[in-house]
Amino acid sequence: MALSRKALATVAVAVLLLCAGCAEAGKKKANPGGRKPGRKPKPSNGNKPSKRAPDVLTVTAAMALDLLNAKNTTFLDIRSDTDFAASHIAGAVSIPKNLVRQAINSGKPKPPPTNKNILCYSAPAAGAKASTATDEALATCLYFMSSGKYPDIKLYALAGGFPMWQAAGYATESS
Ligand SMILES: *[C@@H]1O[C@H](CO)[C@@H](O)[C@H](O)[C@H]1NC(C)=O
Repeated sequence: MALSRKALATVAVAVLLLCAGCAEAGKKKANPGGRKPGRKPKPSNGNKPSKRAPDVLTVTAAMALDLLNAKNTTFLDIRSDTDFAASHIAGAVSIPKNLVRQAINSGKPKPPPTNKNILCYSAPAAGAKASTATDEALATCLYFMSSGKYPDIKLYALAGGFPMWQAAGYATESS
């Protein structure tokens, strides 16, 4: 017996549809990263300012005080032990900048908890602009990000460093 023309046509259409399905599935497999088609990977943007939120947000002393009062941010003093002992932001912890990487990687000295935000501060060199955070505070804060151990936190650096906190008259302590 022979299939009717109509039946043959139906089978042909079904096969075509199936194949289209295969092709789609194949495409999906070929794209394991799950990036949506049409969204091109970001080109590296040379020296142009990034539109993305900055990795480390520079905050004023007043904004830092709000963060301190919200109790969800570790204040990390990266100056020397001696400077820290003399005076520091009330409640801050000390890890001198040259030990921060080691702290993150080896746990000694004790690194800040991974579930709280971190504000890094140091003291600017004499004559540095008060509106910017020190390079060392920014760079140190970035270690937390690049370590991969602090994926969910926000990172802050204090504009003008410790002297601006003192100038604002906010609480300090010595140890
Ligand atoms: C505290 O900060 C962490 C890290 O950013 C965040 O995941 C958490 O939701 C914050 N908790 C509160 C109560 O804001």
